Amino acid sequence: MKAVVFAGPRAVEVGEVPDAVLEEPSDVVLRVTSSAICGTDLHMYDGRTGAEPGLVLGHEPLGVVQQAGSAVELVRPGDRVVIPTHLYCGVCVNCARGLSAACLRVRPGGFGAAYGYAGMGPYRGAQAELLRVPYADANCIPVPGEPGDDLEDDLLMLADAFVTGWHATELARVFPGCTAAVFGAGTIGLLSAYSCLLKGADVVYVVDYIPERLEMAARLGAVPVDFRAGDPVEQIRALRRSQGLPPGEEPMNGVDIVIDAVGFQARDRAAPDQENPAQVIGDLARLVNPTGHAGIAGVYAEKDLHPAPQGTADGHLTVPWATFFSKGVSVGFGRTHDRRYTVLLRDMILSGRARPAPIVTHHGGLDDAPSLYQAFDRRADGVIKAVLHP
Ligand SMILES: NC(=O)c1ccc[n+]([C@@H]2O[C@H](COP(=O)([O-])OP(=O)(O)OC[C@H]3O[C@@H](n4cnc5c(N)ncnc54)[C@H](O)[C@@H]3O)[C@@H](O)[C@H]2O)c1
Ligand SMILES: [Zn+2]
Ligand SMILES: [Zn+2]
Repeated sequence: MKAVVFAGPRAVEVGEVPDAVLEEPSDVVLRVTSSAICGTDLHMYDGRTGAEPGLVLGHEPLGVVQQAGSAVELVRPGDRVVIPTHLYCGVCVNCARGLSAACLRVRPGGFGAAYGYAGMGPYRGAQAELLRVPYADANCIPVPGEPGDDLEDDLLMLADAFVTGWHATELARVFPGCTAAVFGAGTIGLLSAYSCLLKGADVVYVVDYIPERLEMAARLGAVPVDFRAGDPVEQIRALRRSQGLPPGEEPMNGVDIVIDAVGFQARDRAAPDQENPAQVIGDLARLVNPTGHAGIAGVYAEKDLHPAPQGTADGHLTVPWATFFSKGVSVGFGRTHDRRYTVLLRDMILSGRARPAPIVTHHGGLDDAPSLYQAFDRRADGVIKAVLHP
C-alpha cells in the first residue's frame, strides 16, 4: 500500500510499505478516505521526538471498514467509521471511566497509545491507503453517509482536532458566561475557542501571530489578538477594561479560563523565529483571574532531541507555580480522552449544532504530502489544516 513515511528531519516520503492486515481477531482493516496532518506530526517532522525513519505517519483517519476480524461484533465491511487518535481497549479500568488516553492495555510498558507517533506504541500511522485498527469494537466510531459527502471534513475533525479542542475546554472547566483566552490558533486552538463558544462562553480571545489563523479565529466568533502588536496579556486586559467591568470587579480584568494550544514548541514573543517552551505557560499564569482555570492541551514532550535555550531534553521547565498557587488556579493537562467525547461531538455535528470543517484549508492526495508538510511546518501558504485523500 501507499503511505507517508518519515524520512528524517523535515523530510517525508510517499512510498510503498507492506499492506495493513488483520493481526488479531479483534482488528479491522480500514480503507482510509481522508487523513489529516496535525501539529503533532510536526513535532516528529521537525526531528524533535526521535521518530525512526520509516515510521508511517498520521493519526487522524476517516474511512470505510474493508475487512473485520472474527471477534469484531459492532462493525462490518462497508461501514463508514472515524477512528480516534489515541487508541484504547475500551474495557480496562481507565477506559471504563472514560479516561481512554490512559488505557492500561494498549501499550506494553506504558499507558495510552496513538497511531504513527514515536514512543506511543507499535501502531503504524493513518496517512496511508489502509490502517490496522486494533480493539475495533471500541475504536470504530460509526458515522452515516458516504465517503466524500458534505460532512467528510466535519466528521474527519472527530479523529483529533475537534475532540482535543473540546478536551481543552474540559481541562479548563469552561462554564457558560465565562471569559476565556486560547493561546495558539492552529486547529487545536481554533476548535478550543469554538468549543468554548459552543459551551456558552461570553467572550473568547485567541492569541497567535499568523494573520490567516487569526482571521479564522474571528470567523469562528472569537476575538483575535496578534502578539506582534504587544504583550497579549496587556492587550486582553485593555480589551476587558474597555468593555467595562462591574463596580468592584475591576481586579478581575484577566479571564476566567486560559488554554494552552501551543505546547513545547512555543515561539518566543520577543524573537518569534526562536522557541521558548515556557512562554505560553508564563502568559497563562499572568492572564488568568484569581480562582480561574487553566487547560494545557499543547504537547510537552518527555524527549526533545533539540531543546530550545530555556528547554531541556527531558521536558523539565521552570514555570510560575507560585502565581498559579497564589491565584488558586486549577491546572489540567494531557492527551484527549477520545472515548468520552467522540460520540457526543459526532452527534453535535449530525444535528447541525457544530460545524468544525471551516478550519480545513487544503486537500491533496498522498503524493502531495511532502509539499503540504513543508508548507504547514513553515506556517506558509495559509495552511491551517491539510487533509490527504489516499
Ligand atoms: N492533548 C492532545 O491530545 C493533543 C492532540 C492533538 C494535538 N495536540 C498538540 O496541540 C498543539 C497544537 O496543535 P495544532 O495542530 O493546533 O498545531 P499548530 O502548530 O498548527 O498550531 C500551533 C499554533 O501556536 C502558535 N504559537 C506559537 N507560539 C505561540 C505563542 N507564544 N503564543 C501564541 N501562539 C503561539 C503558532 O503560530 C501556531 O499557529 C501541539 O503541541 C499538538 O501536538 C495535543
Ligand atoms: Zn492530531
Ligand atoms: Zn483500556
